[in-house]
Amino acid sequence: MRCNREAIATAKFGVTDSGPTFGCHCGRLLVLMQLGDFQSGYIRPIVLTTIMSQMKTPRAKLDALLALLNSAAQDAIAEYERTGDVPSKESSHPRDSQHPTIALKNALRVLEGACDQLCTTLAPPTHILLSRRYLHYEPACIRFAIKAKVADVLVGQPDGLPVAEIAMKTGIEQGKLARILRFLASKHCFREVRRDVFANSRLSLPLVSSSSLALLFIMSTSLSFGAVSQIHAYLTDPEYGPSLAAEKSAFMYTVRDEGLKDLFDYMKHHPEEEQLFASGMVALSEVTGDSASLTNDFPWDTMAPRSTFCDIGSGVGGICLELAKAHSHLKLTLQDQPHILDKARNLWSRELPEALDEQRVDFVPIDFFKEGPVKDQDIYYMRQIVHDWSDDLVKVILRHIRGSMKPESRLLIHDYILHALHRHEPNGSGEIAAPEPLLPNFGAGNIRPYCQDMNLMMVLNAKERLLDEVKALGTEAGLEFVKVWDLAECGIVEFKVAA
Ligand SMILES: C[S@@+](CC[C@H](N)C(=O)[O-])C[C@H]1O[C@@H](n2cnc3c(N)ncnc32)[C@H](O)[C@@H]1O
Repeated sequence: MRCNREAIATAKFGVTDSGPTFGCHCGRLLVLMQLGDFQSGYIRPIVLTTIMSQMKTPRAKLDALLALLNSAAQDAIAEYERTGDVPSKESSHPRDSQHPTIALKNALRVLEGACDQLCTTLAPPTHILLSRRYLHYEPACIRFAIKAKVADVLVGQPDGLPVAEIAMKTGIEQGKLARILRFLASKHCFREVRRDVFANSRLSLPLVSSSSLALLFIMSTSLSFGAVSQIHAYLTDPEYGPSLAAEKSAFMYTVRDEGLKDLFDYMKHHPEEEQLFASGMVALSEVTGDSASLTNDFPWDTMAPRSTFCDIGSGVGGICLELAKAHSHLKLTLQDQPHILDKARNLWSRELPEALDEQRVDFVPIDFFKEGPVKDQDIYYMRQIVHDWSDDLVKVILRHIRGSMKPESRLLIHDYILHALHRHEPNGSGEIAAPEPLLPNFGAGNIRPYCQDMNLMMVLNAKERLLDEVKALGTEAGLEFVKVWDLAECGIVEFKVAA
């Protein structure tokens, strides 16, 4: 392999005994990437190791960032070219309706991380901070555009519509609407095709109000917006700030006059919010591809007929629907609060009635703080449950699950996994590290888990966790860590009963 910068950009993946690798040693940078293999449907945890013995000068770091950026962009382009043309900003690409492959996600996290790090390095700090002080306007304006149905109005109008017509159809004052659309179009969401004439763009098309993405956007911003604006008052409040209890979250601070217990109690008393939340969770699994990851990247086919799978805190069962459609040999049990399971039954009888007719799915109420799930299941699964609660409460849930497990059972915890920002050698557990000089957690290329961590602090006083924090909680609850499955955004941490 050529040892120069071009080689980094063009090197292809090879295979070694320990899995497919990507390698290049250019005198400045050696990158060894072990990428997941899909033998038996399993994804081998990704390990990215970088040795930067000679990357000492700021100039060398910038060159290395440029090389990574180029290499990752080429990888992303190659992913698109597998099935057709490269995308444009103007219109949707056929691949936009599919979940991104792990290869595309891997390329994007390097690309986004490198772009952001380059700009932050090359621009003066005041320049960066002046721009960042107004970042909150972007989600606020996107939320507005969804609610006002702007993208809906522009569907089927490739040449755009005059803002006066969009204003008439949405009922929004024309001058203000034009300014919001121009602001969003500056970030490639909508296009100003002629003066005061706006059209959809590739980025605004998914905002049509009936889409899962639009639903998810509204759901996510509904709960956190008010709380975020009061973050300083909340954190300095003597009663709320120091507390780790769910009833003392920033969100509960904003609704403290209502005298409710926690977010879930709040939703019980606000059925519209609860419905939005339940639908938003289904949308989340669709949009993020979490159902697809679970359904496709796990070796379900190797499991015996009627193998049992219990989804604890299942919500309405959006994740399991895909699993049940693809793997009819599994016997599923959904466990959640009784009133949520009523909604789940309705959804399943609409979406997959045969699963109910064939008794392939059971709905069993649970309060996971008071009792264990159904006993002796092959797989216990929890998605976005552990991150909802403080350490002490998670240990209660895990101990209850451990009490229900048989020796062969596996517990799969599906959440984001955070990475610390100091660089350390891989410890063999599947933890990832980005190639240098990127931040070890890919920085802006992997920011969603950290945003979600903030979100959980705001709404539930809970948190996303580092891998060793999840492992420690499992160990304290009598579980043994087996492995982590890296899905290039979320991860699944697998446990069994400790011997
Ligand atoms: C963030 S949602 C996750 C839903 C689902 N796992 C998913 O990923 O779509 C959290 C779920 O935990 C459920 N939950 C909250 N407290 C619970 C409790 N004490 N016992 C059982 N389920 C509970 C909620 O009803 C809600 O469906």
